[in-house]
Amino acid sequence: MKGFILLALAVFAALQTVESVCNQCRTMKWVSCEGNEPACTCKITLGDNDRPSINCDKLVSKCFLMKAEMYRRRMGQDVRQSIGGKPHEDAIMDNDGIYDPDCEGDGKFRAKQCNNTEECWCVNSAGVRRSDKGDKNINCSKLVETYMIRLELTHKELDSNNKVTVQALENSVKDLLQTRYQVDRALVKQVQYDPDGRYIVIDIEKEKGERLTNLGNMAYYMEKDLKVSPLFTNQTKVQLNGGSQKLDLNKIVVYYVDEERPTITMQHLTGGIIAVIVVVVLVVVLGLLALFFINRKRQQRYSKTQQRELSNM
Ligand SMILES: *[C@@H]1O[C@H](CO)[C@@H](O)[C@H](O)[C@H]1NC(C)=O
Repeated sequence: MKGFILLALAVFAALQTVESVCNQCRTMKWVSCEGNEPACTCKITLGDNDRPSINCDKLVSKCFLMKAEMYRRRMGQDVRQSIGGKPHEDAIMDNDGIYDPDCEGDGKFRAKQCNNTEECWCVNSAGVRRSDKGDKNINCSKLVETYMIRLELTHKELDSNNKVTVQALENSVKDLLQTRYQVDRALVKQVQYDPDGRYIVIDIEKEKGERLTNLGNMAYYMEKDLKVSPLFTNQTKVQLNGGSQKLDLNKIVVYYVDEERPTITMQHLTGGIIAVIVVVVLVVVLGLLALFFINRKRQQRYSKTQQRELSNM
């Protein structure tokens, strides 16, 4: 009996040690950890000699994630390519796609980014460009914080007769934000739903000046969840609860609102507007010309018939 207990204890102890070896990083599937619990060291590879430690209990910073992804692309490692209305007149979108960012030691974006080129621009705390592109002397005096984001999601079709209850949806959104993305549910300011477009609009806003929550990291994890595949080691897909049915999400658009207005000028837009104006003017001129010629033809025919009538008389 005594021997059995000892054996059981030994097996238990062995299991314990097996379990306490660190190997996986919960919040980043490309990272493996070394050592034994609770003293695990988890390092993310950003470059050949650039492997900072990260805390795998928290979401990894977007700057590190983007840099790691660019490194993996250069190394030819598997990274799959990815694919509203504005919540605020100053809201900006990430239309530039991924670049190789410069990060601070703690994972924050440097305010100025150049993607290893001579062309540089200023970004917000979510790494999204908020200035025009300039040369490498461009002045980005500080990193401007994103304090509000709007997520526009689309869900797949429901089974017939099922309907989404907005209250259930809102609770489910808050749970998801809190449990999966570590964002306080109190920061969800509004959840709107459009059943026809199967559209879910989520506004998340923190106090200006709050520096604990990083909305950029949260939005990046969510974008990857919906567009590519989860960054988490556990690959379970994101679902929301619509009341009578779970909702599979398939599209996401993110708007970023910063504590200061972006300084992007409307250059590209102006080009578009000029093109539209030119087309409109051309159509109007052609229309007037057509009218003019039709009228003249009619008048000619009229005067000819008049002449014929006169000569007949
Ligand atoms: C950054 O550079 C990479 C490769 O050099 C390129 O594929 C990517 O489009 C660039 N991104 C931006 C935002 O300029």
